[in-house]
Amino acid sequence: MAQAVTTTNRDLDLKHLWHANLQHRGLEARPPLEVASAEGCYVFDSEGRRYLDGMAGLFCVNVGYGRQEIVDAVAAQMSQLAYYPLTQSHGPAAQLAGRLAELLPPGLGRVFFTNSGSEAVETALKMARQCARQTHPGENRFKIIARHRGYHGFTMGALAASGQSARRASFEPLAPGFLHVPPPDHYRCSFCSAQPACSLACADEFERVIRMEGPETVAAVIVEPVIGGGGVFPAPDGYLERLRAVCDRYGVLLILDEVITGFGRTGKFFGFEHAGIRADILVFAKGLTSAYLPLGATVASEQVFAAFQADADNSKFVQVSTFGGHPSSCAAALANIEILTRERLWENSATVGAYLLEQLRAIRSPWIAEVRGLGLLIGMELVSDENKTPLPEAQMVQLLREFREAGLLMGRNVESAPGYCNVLLLSPPLILSREQAVTIVATVTQVLRRL
Ligand SMILES: Cc1ncc(COP(=O)(O)O)c(C=O)c1O
Repeated sequence: MAQAVTTTNRDLDLKHLWHANLQHRGLEARPPLEVASAEGCYVFDSEGRRYLDGMAGLFCVNVGYGRQEIVDAVAAQMSQLAYYPLTQSHGPAAQLAGRLAELLPPGLGRVFFTNSGSEAVETALKMARQCARQTHPGENRFKIIARHRGYHGFTMGALAASGQSARRASFEPLAPGFLHVPPPDHYRCSFCSAQPACSLACADEFERVIRMEGPETVAAVIVEPVIGGGGVFPAPDGYLERLRAVCDRYGVLLILDEVITGFGRTGKFFGFEHAGIRADILVFAKGLTSAYLPLGATVASEQVFAAFQADADNSKFVQVSTFGGHPSSCAAALANIEILTRERLWENSATVGAYLLEQLRAIRSPWIAEVRGLGLLIGMELVSDENKTPLPEAQMVQLLREFREAGLLMGRNVESAPGYCNVLLLSPPLILSREQAVTIVATVTQVLRRL
């Protein structure tokens, strides 16, 4: 009798799915992990094997998996109102905008919703250009200054802002008018790596570029408070303050991309709180809903918003997003923020993150050049010799495989700087316990010992 042939998810995947950032040639030999379920800090594959999710998905499941409260809020919202666009209004979007305004400093509370971080960045860039034109008539302020190694998204504008050449190369020319300055990478800094501490010369680069380009051509600066996917580079002490002062001096808007750093990731509710500075435009996604549903938010200051009301006929922001601010996503975000604030998860991020950082720094391994991070956002830069030669690609790939075999899902920076994709990334759910941190350190120690 002929056996019934069953088509597995893996068959369908290999035949039809086009994965993010994966080379499909030869994928049969190393298929991606098929994740079937998740709870807390753990995900389970289709064979029931458990993994500690050291990346919270993609820097995003901040409250951890399996929060029924978010599921219930979304189900209730879907039953009541499945959809309505924000060309009109609905309760969940209004309430979420209000909640964000409560959490943010006064004067920063005008929220435009989208579906993703890339779209939220795109929105910020467009707002900045239009605002600059409307507040500086007669000037031509369109340039945006960002940083090498920064990442802001995959769409043409957000990718143009991203300073990661290997991600950009196949699609250029991207949106014009973007410039990049060096990141605060003290370990490899061409200004001050020989000195014990950062000299902030990299922050002064913004001013140098603004002056060379002509301030009347510059609309905005965009930075992540901590460069995340590009290799984890926290802003050194005084850096963001200096940047804020430069922006003020030249009438340039400061956009902070908090897609990763927002919602507790770095040990404060928002990344900018570490420096105590004010942004003109903030960008959120990921942790806003802990990825239970897609949502991006661009928050403008009242000053920026005012520029869009200067002329009743011509100054409005012309942009519509069909799904942006979807009622279900807003309901998920409200429930997610309720959990984050009730459990004060930024505090756990600060304490367990500091412990994890310290323990990882204590690992004695010739491969570890630097361990850096803030809260539960940590990068470990690996080298193969004393000349700071980055650990080669093949070994980085092998390491990630071994972590996975040992039950730990780690990340690494990819395509972020040619030849420098040698940073292991950790960004677990913010509910990570000290015991789970100990497990991570033990696994990292063991796997690196075998290298
Ligand atoms: C800092 C930052 N900005 C923007 C984005 C883009 O977000 P999304 O992937 O939701 O489009 C990302 C994604 O990783 C990010 O890390």
